[in-house]
Amino acid sequence: MSTAPSSHHAPPPFRTLGIVGTGAMGRGIAQIAAQAGLTVYLHDLREGAVAEATAFITGMWSRGIQKQRLSEADGERYRTRLKEAATLADLSECDIIVEAIIEKLDAKQALFTELEKIVDDQTVLATNTSSLSVTAIASACRRPERIIGFHFFNPVPLMKIVEVIPGLRTDGDTVDRVEALGQAMGHFTARTTDTPGFLVNHAGRAFGTEALRILGESVTDHATVDRILVDQGGFRMGPFALLDLTGLDVSHAVMESIYHQFYEEPRFRPSPLTRQRLTAGLLGRKSGEGFYRYVEGKPQLPEEPPLPEAEPRPVWIGAEAADDRQRLAELVRRAGWPLENGDAPSSEALCLLAPLGEDATACALRLGLPAERCVAVDMLAGLDKRRSVMTTPATRDEIRDAAMALFGHGGTPVSAFRDSNGFVLQRVVACIVNVGSEIAQQGVAEPQVIDRAVELGLGYPRGPLAMGDHYGSRRILAVLDNMLAATGDPRYRASPWLRRRATLGLPLNAA
Ligand SMILES: NC(=O)c1ccc[n+]([C@@H]2O[C@H](COP(=O)([O-])OP(=O)(O)OC[C@H]3O[C@@H](n4cnc5c(N)ncnc54)[C@H](O)[C@@H]3O)[C@@H](O)[C@H]2O)c1
Repeated sequence: MSTAPSSHHAPPPFRTLGIVGTGAMGRGIAQIAAQAGLTVYLHDLREGAVAEATAFITGMWSRGIQKQRLSEADGERYRTRLKEAATLADLSECDIIVEAIIEKLDAKQALFTELEKIVDDQTVLATNTSSLSVTAIASACRRPERIIGFHFFNPVPLMKIVEVIPGLRTDGDTVDRVEALGQAMGHFTARTTDTPGFLVNHAGRAFGTEALRILGESVTDHATVDRILVDQGGFRMGPFALLDLTGLDVSHAVMESIYHQFYEEPRFRPSPLTRQRLTAGLLGRKSGEGFYRYVEGKPQLPEEPPLPEAEPRPVWIGAEAADDRQRLAELVRRAGWPLENGDAPSSEALCLLAPLGEDATACALRLGLPAERCVAVDMLAGLDKRRSVMTTPATRDEIRDAAMALFGHGGTPVSAFRDSNGFVLQRVVACIVNVGSEIAQQGVAEPQVIDRAVELGLGYPRGPLAMGDHYGSRRILAVLDNMLAATGDPRYRASPWLRRRATLGLPLNAA
């Protein structure tokens, strides 16, 4: 981490910015830099690439003028700020150069050592790398103190976040100046340490990998997982729809890269499912088929299975938390089914369980209940948008059907699946909160920065720490502890950040 103190004088703002590599990322960075008032010099190795990028950017502005989001005068001003740099030497006058070339360490090192021969000592050299170490890129440079990570997200003008990543030898002035530039470009700047995946791609490890584990355990199918996480979790997109959108060629590589860079940390362990699907060419949208099939770009969503019909039967509530019992009793009453109030269920009763991180089987046995008449319901996100129920391997079909009919009463959708430690929602949410907590524990970024960066960079309904507080950090801790106890998989060991704050009753975003 850079600990060099920032100087007291205000750092001079950058006026001219060079872009090397004018592909998807470089052109986006060029666009918002010009909009922020900088003169932008564009350079690319490939003949014609700069002209293409310039046409693309000016096209964006023309569309803005057509839609009256941009005045003609501003559009014209922006256009005059874009210049072509035919050779690297034409970047010599730039205050800062941002590279967005191919993601290869030796190519980026070669570029920066070449640039160091051209520019003066004050020029900042920034890299848009997503997966390489900033420190490693800087290690090839004469003045590593002016090398910094400046990591944008695609599409750059819409994803209003940039990570600012000092390498171990980057000086404080460089960090302050680059952070000020990111803000002047209208982006939220997330200062992070130079660690694998930085902040956003690190925080995003849990969503997909835990969903893949659920699929790998045959708990249910991908469409059910997606429906639960969208309806109950409030995610904009389910993990499998997201994997399809990103493409497995990209996602699988990121999963493996971060896992190995953290020396096989089990929390990031990828799934053998993606390697196999990648080999089969099931990349996602771009190949026409991934987890979903795409027809004219639209995913073909399987229909939800219809709810079984069942006659009302007595219900006995074995949920342990008072508010869960209350909400379930209310639901049974509203459906008009008989509710049993005894200490033990009658021999006819459907028994409802509400475990955290425990499967239905273990919960039934622990409570001394007949597994063949038990159904567990996920109470973590409540009963409003969708209801998730799971059965033990001994649960009778007629009991499962009765539970589905009961929970579907009034038209709320119900997802039923096989026994799972932590259902679907609990385990995915708990893993997200846990990875976010560990990021805070490691000091990769400040707690509030972690939450905001994840909202902006990953589009989650809440950042991981706020998510833990929303669901209750003690409940999240219970999910993880019970999952760890049942599976023995260190993937589920709780971060000390989470355990300390949950047991002390402190918010997770308290530093
Ligand atoms: N695409 C994303 O979602 C994304 C997001 C964040 C960061 N990044 C990172 O940004 C960088 C660029 O990614 P991209 O998606 O824009 O790639 P891209 O393939 O769209 O563009 C790369 C451009 O760089 C040019 N180029 C390659 N080597 C060069 C060199 N040595 N000198 C000059 N020009 C060179 C290519 O001709 C091409 O125009 C990579 O480091 C990538 O990891 C990508």
